[in-house]
Amino acid sequence: MSKKICITGGAGFIGSHVVRLFVNTYPGYEIVNVDKLTYAGNLENLRDVENASNYSFVRADITDAAVMEALFAEHRFHSVIHLAAESHVDRSISNPIEFVMTNVVGTVNLLNNFKTYGNTVEGRFYHVSTDEVYGTLGDDGKFTESTPYSPNSPYSASKAASDHFVRAYHETFGLPVVISNCSNNYGSHHFPEKLIPLMINNIRHKKSLPVYGRGENVRDWLYVEDHAKAIDLIFHRGRNGETYNIGGNNEWKNIDLVKKLCEIMDRKLNRNPGESEQLITYVTDRAGHDFRYAIDASKLMNELGWKPTVAFDEGFEKTIDWYLNHQDWLDHVTSGEYQKYYEHMYAKRG
Ligand code: NAD
Ligand code: TYD
Repeated sequence: MSKKICITGGAGFIGSHVVRLFVNTYPGYEIVNVDKLTYAGNLENLRDVENASNYSFVRADITDAAVMEALFAEHRFHSVIHLAAESHVDRSISNPIEFVMTNVVGTVNLLNNFKTYGNTVEGRFYHVSTDEVYGTLGDDGKFTESTPYSPNSPYSASKAASDHFVRAYHETFGLPVVISNCSNNYGSHHFPEKLIPLMINNIRHKKSLPVYGRGENVRDWLYVEDHAKAIDLIFHRGRNGETYNIGGNNEWKNIDLVKKLCEIMDRKLNRNPGESEQLITYVTDRAGHDFRYAIDASKLMNELGWKPTVAFDEGFEKTIDWYLNHQDWLDHVTSGEYQKYYEHMYAKRG
């Protein structure tokens, strides 16, 4: 009998890569993608797998207890891979409650239903989380699995809370769980409110490139397909009750990354060298802006043999090519609500 795996948030950026990997790699799994299709969820992200015989989609809100109970009672999932979340730090500053609802209440809802109806003997509940729960670093050091939690934004506070609930269900109820905390991802299908796709979209429209503060903040970038492969490995071989850090060992100051992007896009768009860099505008910093994230992924590497397979230069070019070859996707996701969001967020940054 095939194993039913519930993947939440499968219509989002990382979720769509995880769904694609699982549907294509494991014909013996029945993948049920549960997603509310918020502004960040898009079924266009899954065109290539939507007709696969081992895939189905359910539009549902993980915060809805009655709907989740009916879903879990019907499917009796073998396992859950939970990615559904509100994921953007700037939005969490404007509207924290939404983050508490989906990221905390939604996660606890799923835990309760997996505990009641899931296969808690052979299956597991996998929570996909972020390195932002650890707070911020200075110039040196890296986050390890034993770095104390110190979330600074409403987004990271909500993810930290959900990580704690997942751990607590393991300790209190013996639920088989595993957590991973990953650094910033980049790749195709990334909603253009986040740094890289936002800058790509603005460069193509010759709009200003809003760099927060002085652009000195540092992020550790990982190609999204390497994250999906890590999730596959941890889902199958990680130890219950454990946390695994995932990262690219690939730190960039925001300003250096944006300049590199400008240079590559000028070349690809046949613009004059230096043209797009002129669009860089330093704007008011994000409130509580974490200075630096960097991940020590040695536990995952040593225990499960994971390592990133896509070098940054290659992944970055591939990513840029994807957006340039899918400008209709960018046009679609940036129409309507996005325009209002953009005006609201960036008007006040000056
Ligand atoms: P995303 O915002 O692109 O996608 C989130 C998905 O969740 C969307 O499809 C959305 O429709 C769905 N969703 C939101 N609220 C929902 C609800 N109430 N019920 C059902 N579905 C809902 O996010 P992403 O960047 O793909 O991130 C996925 C997960 O990975 C998140 O849990 C995030 O915290 C984590 N993460 C992201 C990154 C990153 O760099 N993007 C890094 C580490 C961890
Ligand atoms: P983001 O993609 O929002 O990811 P996170 O804040 O979760 O790491 O932002 C990445 C970095 O880029 C972060 O330091 C904030 C900065 N940033 C800008 O400078 N300008 C922007 O318009 C955005 C969206 C982000």
